Amino acid sequence: MSTAAEHPTYNYKVVRQFAIMTVVWGIVGMAVGVLIASQLVWPALNFDTAWLSFGRLRPLHTNAVIFAFGGCALFATSYYVVQRTSQVRLISDKLAAFTFWGWQLVIVSAAITLPLGLTSSKEYAELEWPIDLLITVVWVAYAIVFMGTVKVRKTSHIYVGNWFYMGFILTVAVLHIVNSAAMPVTLFKSYSVYPGAVDAMVQWWYGHNAVGFFLTAGFLGMMYYFVPKQSGRPIYSYRLSVVHFWALIATYMWAGGHHLHYTSLPDFAQTLGMVMSLILLAPSWGGMINGMMTLSGAWHKLRTDPILRFLVVSLSFYGMSTFEGPMMAIKTVNALSHYTDWTIGHVHAGALGWVAMISIGSVYHMIPKLWGKTQMASVGLINTHFWLATIGTVLYICAMWVNGILQGLMWRAVNEDGTLTYSFVEALEASHPGYMVRALGGAFFLTGMILMAYNVWQTVRKDSKAPVASSSAQTA
Ligand code: HEM
Ligand code: HEM
Repeated sequence: MSTAAEHPTYNYKVVRQFAIMTVVWGIVGMAVGVLIASQLVWPALNFDTAWLSFGRLRPLHTNAVIFAFGGCALFATSYYVVQRTSQVRLISDKLAAFTFWGWQLVIVSAAITLPLGLTSSKEYAELEWPIDLLITVVWVAYAIVFMGTVKVRKTSHIYVGNWFYMGFILTVAVLHIVNSAAMPVTLFKSYSVYPGAVDAMVQWWYGHNAVGFFLTAGFLGMMYYFVPKQSGRPIYSYRLSVVHFWALIATYMWAGGHHLHYTSLPDFAQTLGMVMSLILLAPSWGGMINGMMTLSGAWHKLRTDPILRFLVVSLSFYGMSTFEGPMMAIKTVNALSHYTDWTIGHVHAGALGWVAMISIGSVYHMIPKLWGKTQMASVGLINTHFWLATIGTVLYICAMWVNGILQGLMWRAVNEDGTLTYSFVEALEASHPGYMVRALGGAFFLTGMILMAYNVWQTVRKDSKAPVASSSAQTA
């Protein structure tokens, strides 16, 4: 491994480790995604084996892509950004290394226990209590390293990207602790301390804010650093970014009720969730516009820079999914979309289009700098990756829109005598072509990730004579 990028001031080792694992876990998580997508087309792929069945692999997929792929991307970029914008080294190399190994241990534990069927059954919080405790310890260490580094910064103000990262770290800590409160029965079984509808409400307060803070606020931190850096332009409006931050975190907290429309959740809480979701459109788009407008005067760079394309297209999908979300939160729209593939399409517009694309762009930006190279080994391959990812995402979400609306309409169709027009199986059969297109889209996206791994490997191992990273290593 080249030591050319061994920066005298910054701890790049931990950033490199997390960056590499972002790519590795991305491939693993998406490969499981393609497998479960294929199982919905060809059920024989369950192989009549419990631990290979859809029900066990689905949470493995969600945990692997959100917490392993997304989590490693957040750790890597946040450690990179906080050092460069604060112009100091992370406060503790040991604690930073602990967060790396601790987080990998969490991921491996998840990868073992979920296929075994060990689960708390709370979506996105399936891991059993001993792993929850480990997550808490690692997260506290992360908060200490990140916030401690911000505290000893050499710059007068805290760069806005770091505000978003801190909001994400703090909120995820609170969400995790509150939602995971459980009574252990055995080493691998616990029961939530909350009863009935309260449990559902706490779960979706957590679930929605996991979207808002794990899958959004942290990635906005990424946006505020990597979009200006890659485009070579200052952020469009620093004032808007501060308004964006406070408006977003204040609104997200109240919107979780939209996951529980027409359930036993009190009606006022459902309506509150709907109204706050509609309000959420404003800060979401404020941030998206701030990112987009940063490109003013640099749009021509999109012709030649595929990394910038990843970043800009991710913002377009962010804008799209945060328009779609508030619409789906309207109770009458949700009456059609809920339980259908429309939700799955919305999820992946955010997950593939926004979360994965911005992470990929940011990792491509960082890799050469972390290893002291001038650029990635092959810009052509980044371009191919970009098209595979974009086409894959579009195929995925279009297929799910068609399926979702089709399912919603078929389920609610009634004959004159009040009986259902279609059986469930008929709706399932009609969804089959959409499932094939989705699996194809996923395979495109996964192929792009494999190209990325090859390109990263070529960049890292190539012994280039390039000078240490970028000349701007000392500046933000
Ligand atoms: C190759 C790419 C991917 C494929 C093929 C894929 C496929 C799938 C499939 C088949 C499901 C189950 C849908 C169902 O139950 O009907 C699913 C669920 C899910 N996936 Fe993916 N996925 C991919 C990438 C991602 C990424 C990158 C993320 C997040 C960053 C993600 C997050 C999720 C979430 C949160 C769910 C659960 C959705 C819900 O419960 O409403 N996926 N995925
Ligand atoms: C203004 C922003 C957003 C709003 C108001 C919103 C709203 C919604 C609504 C109404 C649902 C359907 C709930 C249901 O019928 O069960 C939903 C599901 C979901 N959304 Fe969003 N969304 C937003 C942005 C995003 C983004 C950016 C992402 C991903 C990065 C995302 C990820 C998800 C996930 C994972 C689910 C499925 C949860 C589950 O049932 O397992 N959302 N969202």
